[in-house]
Amino acid sequence: MEGYQSGGFGSHFATEAVPGALPEGRNSPQRPAFGLYAEQLSGTAFTAPRHENRRSWLYRMRPSAEHPPYRRYEGAQLFAPGIVKAPVAPNRLRWNPIDLPAQSTDLIDGMVTMMANRDPADLTGVAVHLYAANKDMQHRCFFNADGEMLFIPEQGRLTLYTEMGRIDIGPGEVALVPRGVRFRAALPDGKARGYVAENHGALFRLPELGPIGSNGLANPRDFLTPVAQFEDAEGEVELIQKYLGSLWTTTLDHSPLDVVAWHGTLAPWKYDLSKFNTIGTVSYDHPDPSIFTVLTSPSETPGRANADFVIFPPRWMVAEDTFRPPWFHRNVMSECMGLIHGAYDAKADGFAPGAMSLHNLMAGHGPDVASWKGASEAELKPHKIEGTMAFMVESCWPYMPTRFALETDKLQGDYDEAWGGFPKARLP
Ligand SMILES: [Fe+2]
Repeated sequence: MEGYQSGGFGSHFATEAVPGALPEGRNSPQRPAFGLYAEQLSGTAFTAPRHENRRSWLYRMRPSAEHPPYRRYEGAQLFAPGIVKAPVAPNRLRWNPIDLPAQSTDLIDGMVTMMANRDPADLTGVAVHLYAANKDMQHRCFFNADGEMLFIPEQGRLTLYTEMGRIDIGPGEVALVPRGVRFRAALPDGKARGYVAENHGALFRLPELGPIGSNGLANPRDFLTPVAQFEDAEGEVELIQKYLGSLWTTTLDHSPLDVVAWHGTLAPWKYDLSKFNTIGTVSYDHPDPSIFTVLTSPSETPGRANADFVIFPPRWMVAEDTFRPPWFHRNVMSECMGLIHGAYDAKADGFAPGAMSLHNLMAGHGPDVASWKGASEAELKPHKIEGTMAFMVESCWPYMPTRFALETDKLQGDYDEAWGGFPKARLP
């Protein structure tokens, strides 16, 4: 695909926007070509094991060290406002989609933090945001010192101009911007809405495949990393960063997107969710939803993810004598869900594209009454679920909603009624 390089998660990329900009045989030669500055961007500790180590070398027009002090950024009041420290009720929560902004609002000012589960300074945990914007980021760039950002558009395309190249995505695709990488977002459709998972922990990677074998789920070659592209632009540019849970700003006299060439293993990418190789049962029951894991960020406990990004894509349902939708369950992990398009098979209504739900640890959940009744009475023929894409950001750390999330009128007051009115079992 033009403008992209295939591969990811340990692939080594090398790309230059100007021939001769990339040094050969040295990472930091005494005099890089054209007077460029060599700068290493580390995504893992220097001494991380080789197979986990992610770093890239950037060759840029000015060092990113050149900037005035940061001061608090007073815009984007709902982005990273901290989480509620008071006791959080163990209730299941669901929110209607947020509105597109009435005023002119770019991606950063249009970000709304809904929940988070650890202090970013712990270098673990995940936050989930919504965004709704109608303006390109102009003379403004952003980076996140707290973690990598996974963009999940629901409406409208995003063009992410990053230090390491340009990524174009739309609903049905996702893109990841690594921790620290500067970018600005343009909205080719004039408006955009979606979700962001911000991962403070171990970098997202593909899950192990175990007995599935050497193919399946998300395949590495479908991850597309941009080629080098840079801006040689003078003039004031505001640079905002998220740092330890709050926003900070400074002003540069040039665009920070001035990386002319780069090489290494740490890179942004995009992925088309329709490329996911979905695996399921061909006999009875169905596997745990972990079978739908696109990406995982492991915690220090094997098998217990700091964050899993899981999708519920179109797929054939063929199981015999089986309740086919997601079963009733209570989970030690905490589940934040969203819907990109279509309908989710465990909910008859109330969960529109752009909506969000939260089922924290040990919250009983599963199909609503209408979905349960339909699936219990259905004649079990092979059936294809089509035209839908729901996702989950599952975490071993319980989510704490933000004050906005608890107080907004988008919070559905009647969510528990989804599980009201189940008929009692009839014993012999
Ligand atoms: Fe669940």
